[in-house]
Amino acid sequence: MSENADGRRWWHGAVIYQLYVRSWRDSNDDGYGDLRGIIERLDYLSQLGVDGVWLSPTMPSPDDDWGYDVSDYTGVHPELGTLADLDELIGQAGQRGMRVLLDLVPNHTSSAHPWFADAASGRQAAHRNWYVWADARPDGGLPNNWVDFTGRPAWQWHDSGQYYLHNFLPGQPDLNWREPAVHQEFARILEFWFERGVAGFRVDVANGLYKDAELRDNPPLAPPNPMEGDYGLRFVYNFNRPETHGVYRDWRKIAESYSPERLLLGETWVPDAQKLAAYYGDDDELQLGFNFPFAFASLDPARLAAIVEQTLAALPPGACPVWMGSNHDLGRFPSRWCGGDERKIRLALLVLATLPGTSVLYYGDEIGMTDVDVPVALRRDHATLELEGGADRDRARTPMPWDASPGGGFTGPGVTPWLPMADPADRTVAGQRGKPDSTLSLCRRLLALRRAELGRGLADFENLAVTGGAWAYRTGPLVVAANFTDQPADMPAEAGEVLLTTSAEQAPLSPGVLRPWEGVVTRRIS
Ligand code: GLC
Repeated sequence: MSENADGRRWWHGAVIYQLYVRSWRDSNDDGYGDLRGIIERLDYLSQLGVDGVWLSPTMPSPDDDWGYDVSDYTGVHPELGTLADLDELIGQAGQRGMRVLLDLVPNHTSSAHPWFADAASGRQAAHRNWYVWADARPDGGLPNNWVDFTGRPAWQWHDSGQYYLHNFLPGQPDLNWREPAVHQEFARILEFWFERGVAGFRVDVANGLYKDAELRDNPPLAPPNPMEGDYGLRFVYNFNRPETHGVYRDWRKIAESYSPERLLLGETWVPDAQKLAAYYGDDDELQLGFNFPFAFASLDPARLAAIVEQTLAALPPGACPVWMGSNHDLGRFPSRWCGGDERKIRLALLVLATLPGTSVLYYGDEIGMTDVDVPVALRRDHATLELEGGADRDRARTPMPWDASPGGGFTGPGVTPWLPMADPADRTVAGQRGKPDSTLSLCRRLLALRRAELGRGLADFENLAVTGGAWAYRTGPLVVAANFTDQPADMPAEAGEVLLTTSAEQAPLSPGVLRPWEGVVTRRIS
């Protein structure tokens, strides 16, 4: 059966928790989180009330890009555990009603992958055409003007007499999706994991895969927009190629051949709702695609309301939107959107928990965890090692602060974690657990309310008003009123009985009035 008994898919109304495996819980005191650490703390996730977890890359990798450079697509990274650990994790999560998604990286492999080792062995090699090779220009120059995600040329010269393409690091050669054998191999990889009970994949660089057949130069981009391009060039010929959609139509058929239907959640790095909707196809491609315009928006209610409305209007009928504020690349919303202000963090959590569709929380969002300033000497992300400024990705990948003990409850006392821990004086799980007015308790209440009221399909949604920085919307049987200002604001007329407030003070300031940065969930007056 591909759907629930009443025709719903499990991710409609669900909350998925993105778990950065190396930073969540270290079970063997080597300073890195691992699969057994997740198994130990599954009860925490089920008490939080999430429906599924997405694990950051778990496959063997030389870790040039922390697992986003895969050297074996059907294995488990030995530093994270074994295939048996992963099976146990899937089984134990399932017993608690939670599903497990893995991260799949189809745009590129590691240069240490045996396919690339063979491809690089010579121009006649069996796997040569599995990667994107190009001759130097007659003047010896680079094949075109594409740059990788660090701003350096996306072409690496190789002794075999050609350049190979890497949209990411040189250790991440791009696969050539014009080669049919690559399709066959990935179909096999999908089946391998689906048969093991994996509930689906987050698909890395889902808007990548195919490249322009003629490898044309990218045109200039001005003004800068991180979703349209980078380093002054628009992503026209190295991303978002139309042929990519055929891959997802094929994968969707594979996903639907399993019971329950397996989920494909794409990292759809596109600038607007129309382009995002294209990856859902005619409800025959990805079932879910991340909404980057939403995540990149500031905590501006007019902007957020407009993006929600445009997204819902653009998606095909019955399709499910996805909302998130944080991830391992963008940083944490409690910093980016909220500047660490607890009132704003709680308000943003309320918005994430009450929008229709699927919401994705990043580990630590539930305690309002902010980015951690990682000194350059302690940085681990090769892509941003040299950046002095605030753009490094390590800041959002630091260990989960479980408690204030030595090792932070993440690793053993005396063990140096792979990235520095957040200051425990700031926020920890233990410090918030059992305190009714903590952000963690609020998050639990929000997810419980969501499950009870919105977790039964795709809630219909209506923007009621954005006036003077207050946003009111109807979502299923609820009316949400959220005050994004430093002044008190009036409740909308449609708001009924208050079911939940983000304010640490439970009593209203005065009836019908929202505190500054307060949000409430109310029952709609019918
Ligand atoms: C995605 C991942 C990012 C990684 C890149 C290359 O954007 O989220 O962490 O560096 O792909 O795989």
